[in-house]
Amino acid sequence: MTKQRVLSGVQPTGNLHLGNYLGAIRNWVAGQSQYDNFFCVVDLHAITVPHNPATLAADTYTIAALYLACGIDLQYSTIFVQSHVSAHSELAWLLNCITPLNWLQDMIQFKEKALKQGQNVSAGLLDYPVLMAADILLYDADKVPVGEDQKQHIELTRDIVDRLNHQFGKPNQPVLKSPAPLILAEGARVMSLTDGTKKMSKSDPSDMSRINLLDPPDLIQTKIKKCKTDPVRGLVFDDPERPECNNLLTLYTLLSGKSKQDVAIECVEMGWGQFKPLLMDAAIAHLKPIQDKYQSIMDDKGYLESVLRDGREKAEDIANQTLRRVKGALGYSLPL
Ligand code: TYM
Repeated sequence: MTKQRVLSGVQPTGNLHLGNYLGAIRNWVAGQSQYDNFFCVVDLHAITVPHNPATLAADTYTIAALYLACGIDLQYSTIFVQSHVSAHSELAWLLNCITPLNWLQDMIQFKEKALKQGQNVSAGLLDYPVLMAADILLYDADKVPVGEDQKQHIELTRDIVDRLNHQFGKPNQPVLKSPAPLILAEGARVMSLTDGTKKMSKSDPSDMSRINLLDPPDLIQTKIKKCKTDPVRGLVFDDPERPECNNLLTLYTLLSGKSKQDVAIECVEMGWGQFKPLLMDAAIAHLKPIQDKYQSIMDDKGYLESVLRDGREKAEDIANQTLRRVKGALGYSLPL
């Protein structure tokens, strides 16, 4: 039986944080042996907000190295860079022409990011989800493992598939395959360390709001020491009045590998002074092997380049076939 296909990606904007790791990459790693996986570094998405050309290439390598350091295994998975496979931009254009403008204007993430950009909102920011749809659809992906914040973009992708198949497919012969989101219950929405009602995010101006995968142990300690808590003794999950408490207990559960039930029992009578050192130790111990492996990968740039070269070849092969199929369905004369 052929394996189902998975595709996902992360933008090379700054460092990866625990939200990216617990919401997405950890799940890629956990499920990878069951699927045929494609993981890309989505560097075309990275320029939808103002970016720094001096660091874009280095950031792209960092994210690819972190995929490997977090446990992506090339036996099951292909790692590549989005901009190395030109079919992504080309399919995005074709999809643009069948996607109604108001669908894009309704996207929550567009509205949030546009607010922050003021006068500088690019057409690319509005178009971001169409490029994301192209990423997914080029590989006929069955599943897309992401954090909760991406669910709406995958629903939009499904709507684009329905529209394109309806307009250009034949009965019982769809042009594109509809993907499903793969969102886990725990870790799908990791919250900020400085405000438990806000998502942990790369774009938060305060670095104290997030733990980055490459933060050294003393910085992790400082961030947890200073993170927002509440004055209540006894730590419990799922109390809507205590968002920070729920978030920090969830982080502890996922980083320590203990069950939610065990953590609930362990922490029910604790104060923050007792809990914080446990969370610090769990975070530092969990990230150490990732940081060590990252270092050894970065010390061998030739290896990383060869991984991305092989990845591009495999990705391009599949992507070009899909692109040809879509162009054919839309009525283009195909190059011979
Ligand atoms: P990006 O780089 O913003 O986020 C990468 C992944 O991290 C997840 N994530 C979180 N999960 C839990 N808690 C958080 N606080 C948190 N913050 C981020 C995101 O849900 C995402 O899974 N648009 C995508 C990139 C993309 C993509 C794709 C994903 C482009 N093309 C195709 C899947 C398939 C994004 O938001 O990246």
